[in-house]
Amino acid sequence: MEKRSELYRGKAKTVYHTDDPDRLILEFRNDTSAFDGEKVEQLADKGKVNNKFNHFIMSKLEEAGIPTQLDECISDTESVVKKLDMIPVECVVRNYAAGSLVKRLGVKEGMELSPPTFEFFLKNDALHDPMINEYHIQAFGWAKAEQIEKMKELTFKVNDVLKKLFADAGLLLVDYKLEFGVFNGEIMLGDEFSPDGCRLWDAETREKLDKDRFRQGLGGVVEAYREVAKRLGADI
Ligand code: TMP
Repeated sequence: MEKRSELYRGKAKTVYHTDDPDRLILEFRNDTSAFDGEKVEQLADKGKVNNKFNHFIMSKLEEAGIPTQLDECISDTESVVKKLDMIPVECVVRNYAAGSLVKRLGVKEGMELSPPTFEFFLKNDALHDPMINEYHIQAFGWAKAEQIEKMKELTFKVNDVLKKLFADAGLLLVDYKLEFGVFNGEIMLGDEFSPDGCRLWDAETREKLDKDRFRQGLGGVVEAYREVAKRLGADI
């Protein structure tokens, strides 16, 4: 596979065209961003750790029957993916209260949510990713009703698979964000799954082992990601 011109540079990844019109190369950079790009720093080895972490998780999801864009890792920081037509919404499931939910509703951080909650956000940094609902998604043509249903179904299926995977490693999957796209008419999981886009706490101590360490200036960010990978038995 030949890497060609840059298609898009996001906050933490760069996407390249390839010689195959249906395939792209994702490059995971060390850039780490929070608060819609307000705080950005380079963290040594983060690109490599997230590329491999993402590969490990996406493979587990594929094994569980969830279609993902990932084809293969081709270097420490690069993976080949299918070229999806991305839907510009973010799907968030929460198992425990944290982050924006705590701010918005004034509930206590760490409260277990039963049932887990589901929220849609518009992917738009300039507008600070506002929360939206299914009516907005349909009215503005971001996705159709059946695609919305599929995204919800797959996002909850991911929860079943990953809650157990992390629990077996002594970790709580607090919340996470997924993005989907369309490939040959089928909804597939796109973007990435790494500690940049979810919250993971030690099940005993509730120590934060995800990007909240960066958001809150706690330090040891990549070290925490490596610790999670080690507990999962991922080769990073
Ligand atoms: P929130 O508490 O800020 O709404 O985020 C919920 C989860 O989704 C958290 O694990 C972080 C993740 N997330 C992103 O990674 N990027 C985003 O743009 C948003 C809105 C959430």
